[in-house]
Amino acid sequence: MFATPDLSKLSKPEFYRELTAQISALVQDETDPVANMANCAALIFHSVPKLNWAGFYLLKGGELVLGPFQGRVACVRIAFGRGVVGTAAEKRTTIRVGDVNQFPGHIACDSASKSEIVVPLTSDDSRLLGVLDIDSPEPDRFDAEDEEGFRAIGKIIAAKL
Ligand code: SME
Repeated sequence: MFATPDLSKLSKPEFYRELTAQISALVQDETDPVANMANCAALIFHSVPKLNWAGFYLLKGGELVLGPFQGRVACVRIAFGRGVVGTAAEKRTTIRVGDVNQFPGHIACDSASKSEIVVPLTSDDSRLLGVLDIDSPEPDRFDAEDEEGFRAIGKIIAAKL
Protein backbone atom coordinates (compact mmCIF):
# COMPACT_ATOMS: atom_id res chain seq x y z
CA MET A 1 0.00 0.00 0.00
CA PHE A 2 1.30 3.46 -0.91
CA ALA A 3 1.28 5.72 2.15
CA THR A 4 1.12 9.49 1.63
CA PRO A 5 3.53 11.05 4.13
CA ASP A 6 2.89 14.48 5.65
CA LEU A 7 4.83 16.97 3.54
CA SER A 8 3.47 20.06 5.28
CA LYS A 9 6.61 20.80 7.31
CA LEU A 10 8.93 21.06 4.28
CA SER A 11 10.12 24.15 2.41
CA LYS A 12 8.60 24.46 -1.06
CA PRO A 13 11.67 23.15 -2.95
CA GLU A 14 11.94 20.23 -0.50
CA PHE A 15 8.22 19.61 -0.81
CA TYR A 16 8.40 19.32 -4.60
CA ARG A 17 11.58 17.21 -4.47
CA GLU A 18 9.74 14.79 -2.18
CA LEU A 19 6.50 14.88 -4.20
CA THR A 20 8.44 14.28 -7.44
CA ALA A 21 10.16 11.28 -5.84
CA GLN A 22 6.75 9.95 -4.74
CA ILE A 23 5.33 10.40 -8.26
CA SER A 24 8.32 8.51 -9.70
CA ALA A 25 7.86 5.67 -7.24
CA LEU A 26 4.13 5.57 -7.90
CA VAL A 27 4.41 5.11 -11.68
CA GLN A 28 7.68 3.20 -11.83
CA ASP A 29 6.31 -0.35 -12.05
CA GLU A 30 3.06 0.37 -13.91
CA THR A 31 2.72 0.82 -17.67
CA ASP A 32 -0.99 1.61 -17.93
CA PRO A 33 -1.33 5.35 -18.67
CA VAL A 34 -4.84 5.76 -17.21
CA ALA A 35 -3.87 4.04 -13.95
CA ASN A 36 -0.76 6.20 -13.67
CA MET A 37 -2.60 9.45 -14.41
CA ALA A 38 -5.36 8.53 -11.95
CA ASN A 39 -2.94 7.85 -9.12
CA CYS A 40 -0.84 10.93 -9.90
CA ALA A 41 -3.95 13.15 -9.87
CA ALA A 42 -4.89 11.68 -6.47
CA LEU A 43 -1.39 12.11 -5.05
CA ILE A 44 -1.12 15.72 -6.25
CA PHE A 45 -4.63 16.65 -5.12
CA HIS A 46 -4.17 15.20 -1.64
CA SER A 47 -0.57 16.40 -1.12
CA VAL A 48 -0.45 19.93 -2.53
CA PRO A 49 -2.22 22.41 -0.24
CA LYS A 50 -5.11 24.61 -1.38
CA LEU A 51 -6.21 22.91 -4.59
CA ASN A 52 -9.74 22.34 -5.84
CA TRP A 53 -8.88 20.43 -9.02
CA ALA A 54 -5.93 18.40 -10.33
CA GLY A 55 -5.91 16.30 -13.44
CA PHE A 56 -5.23 15.72 -17.09
CA TYR A 57 -6.51 16.69 -20.51
CA LEU A 58 -5.27 14.51 -23.37
CA LEU A 59 -4.83 15.50 -26.99
CA LYS A 60 -7.29 13.39 -29.02
CA GLY A 61 -8.41 14.18 -32.56
CA GLY A 62 -7.12 17.75 -32.35
CA GLU A 63 -8.86 18.69 -29.10
CA LEU A 64 -8.15 18.31 -25.40
CA VAL A 65 -10.29 15.60 -23.81
CA LEU A 66 -10.76 15.17 -20.07
CA GLY A 67 -8.58 12.48 -18.49
CA PRO A 68 -8.21 11.20 -14.93
CA PHE A 69 -8.65 13.91 -12.30
CA GLN A 70 -9.62 14.76 -8.73
CA GLY A 71 -12.10 17.51 -8.01
CA ARG A 72 -15.52 18.54 -9.24
CA VAL A 73 -17.00 17.39 -12.54
CA ALA A 74 -15.14 19.24 -15.32
CA CYS A 75 -15.58 20.31 -18.96
CA VAL A 76 -15.02 17.25 -21.14
CA ARG A 77 -13.69 18.72 -24.40
CA ILE A 78 -11.61 21.87 -24.81
CA ALA A 79 -10.69 23.17 -28.25
CA PHE A 80 -7.01 23.62 -29.06
CA GLY A 81 -6.16 27.26 -28.31
CA ARG A 82 -9.16 27.82 -25.99
CA GLY A 83 -8.96 28.65 -22.29
CA VAL A 84 -5.84 28.15 -20.21
CA VAL A 85 -5.70 24.45 -21.10
CA GLY A 86 -6.04 24.94 -24.85
CA THR A 87 -3.64 27.89 -24.90
CA ALA A 88 -0.93 26.01 -22.97
CA ALA A 89 -1.39 23.10 -25.39
CA GLU A 90 -1.24 25.31 -28.47
CA LYS A 91 1.78 27.28 -27.30
CA ARG A 92 3.38 24.21 -25.70
CA THR A 93 4.34 26.31 -22.78
CA THR A 94 3.46 26.26 -19.09
CA ILE A 95 0.86 28.91 -18.26
CA ARG A 96 0.43 30.25 -14.75
CA VAL A 97 -2.65 32.41 -14.18
CA GLY A 98 -2.92 34.37 -10.92
CA ASP A 99 -6.51 35.48 -11.56
CA VAL A 100 -8.43 33.24 -13.94
CA ASN A 101 -11.13 35.88 -14.42
CA GLN A 102 -8.54 38.10 -16.11
CA PHE A 103 -7.49 35.38 -18.56
CA PRO A 104 -9.17 35.93 -21.94
CA GLY A 105 -11.27 32.88 -22.79
CA HIS A 106 -10.82 31.19 -19.43
CA ILE A 107 -13.22 28.25 -19.15
CA ALA A 108 -14.92 28.23 -15.75
CA CYS A 109 -15.51 24.54 -15.07
CA ASP A 110 -15.62 25.14 -11.32
CA SER A 111 -16.47 28.66 -10.19
CA ALA A 112 -14.34 28.07 -7.08
CA SER A 113 -11.17 28.17 -9.20
CA LYS A 114 -9.31 31.46 -8.79
CA SER A 115 -5.83 30.61 -10.05
CA GLU A 116 -4.51 27.90 -12.30
CA ILE A 117 -1.35 26.35 -13.73
CA VAL A 118 -1.26 24.22 -16.87
CA VAL A 119 1.83 22.23 -17.89
CA PRO A 120 2.04 20.72 -21.40
CA LEU A 121 3.04 17.06 -21.53
CA THR A 122 5.23 16.09 -24.48
CA SER A 123 6.82 12.86 -25.65
CA ASP A 124 10.58 12.30 -26.04
CA ASP A 125 10.21 13.14 -29.73
CA SER A 126 8.38 16.40 -28.86
CA ARG A 127 4.81 15.33 -29.69
CA LEU A 128 2.16 17.02 -27.57
CA LEU A 129 0.35 14.37 -25.51
CA GLY A 130 -1.87 16.53 -23.30
CA VAL A 131 -1.60 18.77 -20.25
CA LEU A 132 -1.49 18.60 -16.49
CA ASP A 133 -4.00 21.11 -15.10
CA ILE A 134 -3.99 22.29 -11.47
CA ASP A 135 -6.57 24.74 -10.05
CA SER A 136 -6.72 26.57 -6.73
CA PRO A 137 -9.54 28.41 -4.94
CA GLU A 138 -6.92 31.02 -3.88
CA PRO A 139 -5.80 33.86 -6.16
CA ASP A 140 -2.08 33.80 -7.04
CA ARG A 141 -1.66 30.36 -5.52
CA PHE A 142 1.18 29.27 -7.84
CA ASP A 143 4.66 30.82 -8.01
CA ALA A 144 7.83 29.96 -9.93
CA GLU A 145 8.72 27.21 -7.44
CA ASP A 146 5.33 25.56 -7.91
CA GLU A 147 5.84 25.83 -11.66
CA GLU A 148 9.25 24.19 -11.47
CA GLY A 149 7.80 21.42 -9.30
CA PHE A 150 4.84 20.71 -11.59
CA ARG A 151 7.06 20.78 -14.67
CA ALA A 152 9.31 18.13 -13.12
CA ILE A 153 6.25 16.05 -12.22
CA GLY A 154 4.82 16.55 -15.73
CA LYS A 155 8.03 15.18 -17.29
CA ILE A 156 7.82 11.98 -15.26
CA ILE A 157 4.16 11.44 -16.11
CA ALA A 158 4.64 12.27 -19.82
CA ALA A 159 7.28 9.53 -20.04
CA LYS A 160 4.58 7.02 -19.00
CA LEU A 161 1.88 8.11 -21.51
N1 SME B 1 -10.16 26.43 -16.50
C1 SME B 1 -9.63 25.62 -17.56
C2 SME B 1 -10.56 24.52 -17.95
C3 SME B 1 -10.31 23.24 -17.25
S1 SME B 1 -10.81 23.23 -15.64
O1 SME B 1 -10.13 24.25 -14.89
C4 SME B 1 -10.65 21.75 -14.96
C5 SME B 1 -9.31 26.48 -18.78
O2 SME B 1 -9.63 27.67 -18.85
O3 SME B 1 -8.73 25.94 -19.70
